[in-house]
Amino acid sequence: MDALLKFITCGSVDDGKSTLIGHMLYDAKLIFTDQERALELDSRVGSRGGEIDYSLLLDGLMAEREQGITIDVAYRYFTTECRSFIVADTPGHEEYTRNMAVGASFADLAVILVDASQGVLTQTRRHTRICSLMGIKHFVFAVNKMDLVNYEKVRFDKIRKNIQVLLAEFDYKTAVMIPVSATEGDNITSKSDRMPWYGGRPLLTYLETIDVKEDPAETGFTMPVQRVCRPNHTFRGFQGQIESGSVSVGDRLTVLPSGETAEVASIYQGCDAVQESSAGRAVTIQLDSEIDVSRGCVLVKQTEELISTMFAATILWMDDRKLMAGKSYLLKIGTQKVPATVMKIKYKIDVNSGEEVYADTIYKNEIAHCEISVASKIVFDRFKNNNALGSLILIDRISHMTSACGVVEYALNRGDNLTWHDMDITRDFREKQLGQRAKTIWFTGLSGAGKSSLANELEKCLALEGRHTMLLDGDNVRMGLNKNLGFREHDRIENIRRIAEVSKLMNDAGLIVLTSFISPFIQDRRNAREIIGDAFVEVYVSTPLEECEKRDVKGLYKKARSGRIDNFTGVSSPYEPPENPEIVIDTSNGTLEECVREVMEQLEKFL
Ligand code: ADX
Repeated sequence: MDALLKFITCGSVDDGKSTLIGHMLYDAKLIFTDQERALELDSRVGSRGGEIDYSLLLDGLMAEREQGITIDVAYRYFTTECRSFIVADTPGHEEYTRNMAVGASFADLAVILVDASQGVLTQTRRHTRICSLMGIKHFVFAVNKMDLVNYEKVRFDKIRKNIQVLLAEFDYKTAVMIPVSATEGDNITSKSDRMPWYGGRPLLTYLETIDVKEDPAETGFTMPVQRVCRPNHTFRGFQGQIESGSVSVGDRLTVLPSGETAEVASIYQGCDAVQESSAGRAVTIQLDSEIDVSRGCVLVKQTEELISTMFAATILWMDDRKLMAGKSYLLKIGTQKVPATVMKIKYKIDVNSGEEVYADTIYKNEIAHCEISVASKIVFDRFKNNNALGSLILIDRISHMTSACGVVEYALNRGDNLTWHDMDITRDFREKQLGQRAKTIWFTGLSGAGKSSLANELEKCLALEGRHTMLLDGDNVRMGLNKNLGFREHDRIENIRRIAEVSKLMNDAGLIVLTSFISPFIQDRRNAREIIGDAFVEVYVSTPLEECEKRDVKGLYKKARSGRIDNFTGVSSPYEPPENPEIVIDTSNGTLEECVREVMEQLEKFL
């Protein structure tokens, strides 16, 4: 049994969450004398007619709430003679789902409060669901306010049955139900003689004795490599935390994703050489042969990790900005951090009822089942099998904020049975044949900024110089290949992704591609740059909105202003200017010929 238990308390405002913990600390004499005196004085003016209000000991979140500042997670530390505890206290309302998820992600056990006078409520389901999603396998249902129902066994039994029905939906290891009264102190630190029919342990005793430790013998060994340590040319060790199982000197380990194997030559815990080590330890492992291992690789023994470029996941969306299918994020799984795209939102899960509901957009605090794809193979596992390799976060690539946390459900092998064929006639060969270097000259800017006119003139100049080119234009491509796409954000994301892939193919054919798309979002252009690679040259046509609107060649601004076109860039949809474009040109500063000449001059060094 671990000497430390990390747990979370879940309950809504009036469930008595703070009173419960407060009473536990008070009874177990875990508060200082001056705190005790202050508590007695504060309680005199409180709502309990002079009786001690234990919740005042834990009013951290309350204070935040009153001040209107961000409510996060409050952690409390306490120690009894038998064990140390860290308890995460989080608000219970639906709009704070993500806060509860953060608290639950650190905990091994959840104490879920149920009001005896109300029984199992929607929020009880929600709290259990969030804890379960975050990997909690041990539950205590504290059926509180037993004093309000005359300590009746019948009442408790009914609630217990309902909790058992609720639990059938979830995967858990232990679950107990304890009848308590947080205000009166029944079954908190000692057994209550007002409920002689209850044969179990009081809450604190239960928390002091419950064993939540995983048995390392049950699972194979996994260690995601965090760092390669090379203090001198004779030593090369792989450092990380053992996430499951155990390892001994002499064991044969496999390095994933490469699949190469080697034997363990030595193991260090800190500076001490040891013969074996197990889950939870941070170690340095030295192998007996020089194989390729870097940060993000996973060392394993007797396990079957999954290796793929695509998987299905359940995620909890935490970002103020909604989730968009097709948008690129950074995915962190184990010690791997790679660009990833949520390819498809399959459905969202009603956090209260567990129902699957159709959705194509996900908002803050919502849970979604979706498909995530990454550019190259990564190592992961189902969350059920391995918490560390089965849990993930998605990071916004611009703000670097955590946008979502989630768990891997299963691997999708769609891309796995495909093999890239290297053809004999390569891009390099075709470039030589055509006597040029393939490029994608990516024009971005508002509608009417002059992108198409510039790209058209530029292509003529290049063609006259004998170069082989192809022009992809927004309006034209949208009449064919992208006929099925509109102008909502997720359609634009897909529009740009397809164009980037097409440009890459044309670059493979050795061509110089010119593209003319508004491409209003930084992240999508960044994605295009990643797809196209070194061949990408970004030209920002920076003509100001007023000028574009004055020109209004197609009459679209006028229509947009009068509300006849939705999501019109610059009017009712944003344009995010590039941060570091290779070339910038404002077409309001000169004639078309002058602008083309300027772009040609600047372009020379890239061709
Ligand atoms: S992008 O945003 O997805 O890159 P794209 O360049 O393909 O846009 O298409 C832009 C062209 O579509 C504009 O030049 C304009 O002619 C036309 N268009 C029609 N509706 C809109 C709209 N809501 N916003 C912007 N352009 C629109």
